[in-house]
Amino acid sequence: MLFKDTRETSLDAELRRSVNRMIDVANTGDIFAPDEHAVSIWNGYFRQLAIYKSDLELLSVLSDTFLGVANHANSRVVLMAQEKMLAALASNCNQVSDSELFLDGLPKLGALITQEMRNEIRDLYVSEYEGAKYSRNFNENFTLCTQYFNAISPDRHARVLDIGTGFGFLPFIFKSNGHSVEAMDIESAPSQYAQSCGILGLNRHDFEIRRYIPVLTFKEKFDIITCTQICFNGHGTSALWKRNEWLFFLKDICENLLTESGFIWLCFNYEPRNAVETTNDSIGHEDVEALFSPYYIDGVDWKIAKLYKHDIDGLAA
Ligand SMILES: C[S@@+](CC[C@H](N)C(=O)[O-])C[C@H]1O[C@@H](n2cnc3c(N)ncnc32)[C@H](O)[C@@H]1O
Repeated sequence: MLFKDTRETSLDAELRRSVNRMIDVANTGDIFAPDEHAVSIWNGYFRQLAIYKSDLELLSVLSDTFLGVANHANSRVVLMAQEKMLAALASNCNQVSDSELFLDGLPKLGALITQEMRNEIRDLYVSEYEGAKYSRNFNENFTLCTQYFNAISPDRHARVLDIGTGFGFLPFIFKSNGHSVEAMDIESAPSQYAQSCGILGLNRHDFEIRRYIPVLTFKEKFDIITCTQICFNGHGTSALWKRNEWLFFLKDICENLLTESGFIWLCFNYEPRNAVETTNDSIGHEDVEALFSPYYIDGVDWKIAKLYKHDIDGLAA
């Protein structure tokens, strides 16, 4: 690939219009359209027609767009191309072969989730059922999971377990970004949950989390265990878990499921005031709030606790 200064004028104008359109749709809060725009810009202009020096700043916009929609794998590809171009230019080398940029040439990129999958999952809404919102209001619920993923932002390949997975959006986003995932939910959950996991190509294991019962184990341990919109703790009922039940769960996870540098990421549901006599944003009884509050992460709209294995080790029984 020869690094010419700029592409032919009308083509450059066309590319820049396309990038502006991508920025406009990203500003609407939609995640699917900007992802698809970014993919078609990369595949149509950069991958097919070569990258020019005048494109360098557009590559940053493209990689930021991919990051925003939780397509971190694509963002990395774009950044890597940009870094290699900058390094080549810095060494006064105006020419670099595709295979020097990437072993197999510039890769073709794909969207985080295909339109076919999205439509199949939306079609799971035929009538009301528990959790029907995940198919009826697919866009909002999937988008929420991209925000969870962006808040976690794993910086290297991870083995991930998602407990109480529902439709499986969060583990799918991990998988789409190249991580290894397992998903878990109760056998008696609505059949649409398992169907959605099937559409998304997930390994879903039937298992019910119960107080003082160890969690299902796997051949290998996990770097990240996610639990979002948690219900397995008796959420919203008079049987809501207290500190000791959480401690048993955490110690079991720590001993049997987490790698040495692993962590559990707990995104809580708020408890109704009549279940717990505290504030509107309470996750449980006072001693449960006290257990988790040192581990709440900043900068998110929900109460999310992130506990590393060593944090759990240090919790007093
Ligand atoms: C509110 S949904 C959250 C789904 C998904 N985690 C999300 O954030 O979109 C709660 C999920 O927990 C599952 N669940 C409820 N009780 C459970 C239990 N005891 N063990 C495992 N999963 C459970 C439900 O079947 C459901 O999929």
